[in-house]
Parts: sequence; structure tokens; C-alpha cells
Amino acid sequence: MKRNLIAFCLFAGFSTLVVADEPRIAFPQDYKSYKNYLSLDRTGDNTNQIIRLFANETAAAGPNKDGALPNGSILVGEIYKAKLSDKGESVESSLGRRVRGKLAAIAVMEKRQGWGSKFSEEFRNGDWDFAVFSPDGKRLNKDLNSCRGCHAPLTQSDHLFSYDHLQQ
Ligand code: HEC
Repeated sequence: MKRNLIAFCLFAGFSTLVVADEPRIAFPQDYKSYKNYLSLDRTGDNTNQIIRLFANETAAAGPNKDGALPNGSILVGEIYKAKLSDKGESVESSLGRRVRGKLAAIAVMEKRQGWGSKFSEEFRNGDWDFAVFSPDGKRLNKDLNSCRGCHAPLTQSDHLFSYDHLQQ
């Protein structure tokens, strides 16, 4: 009996884990044809990175009247390593900006009706979900709850940092 209970708990725990990160977002093969709505030196702790942001047609049309982006929105962040000096610091261009080095990863947010319903408050981002891929489109095995946890508090901007740049 006891052993069955342990087996059940292990199974239940494991299946929750698998369900929570079942990959729903496919690599957006055609993202280079999306609108490049913003490119910037990354903010916060990401001092040696540059990001280029793309929005598919649905997202590029901007928020609905209720302030949220429509279902079917896809946002893509190409994350580049910045070129580094011998000292390991970002090289500064004559514009005082970082200089783009190698493409390191492709971060994706996609929104579909009902996608948020399985998450707890802490990790829920409306109906957005997250994925991250290598430059050649292979899914990377990252802890997606770290993505969810950092974007979740942004309830005033549909969980987006670059929200203002998507306004029409
Ligand atoms: C510690 C906070 C933090 C974490 C963790 C994080 N992000 Fe973000 N994300 C940001 C910030 C800040 C921006 C704005 C651009 C920038 O400065 O890089 C951003 C921008 C984005 C964007 C463009 C849309 C927007 O919100 O502006 C996407 C897509 C994205 N992140 C996906 C991801 C994915 C996928 C992960 C997990 C692998 C992730 N993020 C983890 C802070 C975070």
C-alpha cells in the first residue's frame, strides 16, 4: 500500500512536470519576414548581449481595445552575444552602443486562447507561453518557469517589456 502511494506520488509529480513544459510553441521558421519592431542593447543584467525583436503580423497590428495583444501573436527575440574586448567587456561603437557578435539563441513568446489556464498565478502570463531555440531552430532545454516568472508581474503591459514599441 505504502509503496503504491509512493509510486503514485512519483508518477503524479512527474506527469505534472511533463505537462507543465509540454512543447506547444513550434520554431517560427519564417520569423525573419516578421516586423523587426525594435533592436537594442539588452537591459538589466544582460550586459553582454544585444536583442532584435520581431512581431508577426497579428502582433505587429498592436494591442486590442482591452490593451492586450490578440491571440495568434508571436514575438521573437534574436539574442546576440556582444563583441568583447580582451578584458571581456563589451566593445563600444562610436555611437556608444554594443556591437553585434554571434547569434546565441532565439527566444519566443506565443499567445493562444486558453494557453495560460494551466499555470499558477506566479507563472501565468495571460495566455502567453514561452520557448527558446538554438540559432538553427532546435529546441533548447531551458527552465521556462524562469521566463514566466520574470514576465508575469507585467500585468499592465500584457506581460511584455517592449509593449510601448508595439503601439500603433
Ligand atoms: C530576469 C527577467 C527575464 C527573464 C528571466 C526572461 N526575460 Fe524575456 N525579456 C526581459 C526583458 C527585460 C525584455 C526586454 C528586452 C531586453 O532588455 O532584453 C524581454 C523581452 C522578451 C521578449 C520580447 C517581448 C517583450 O516582453 O518585450 C521575448 C519574446 C522574451 N523576452 C522571451 C523570453 C524567454 C523565452 C525567456 C526564457 C528563456 C525569457 N524571456 C526570460 C526579461 C526577462
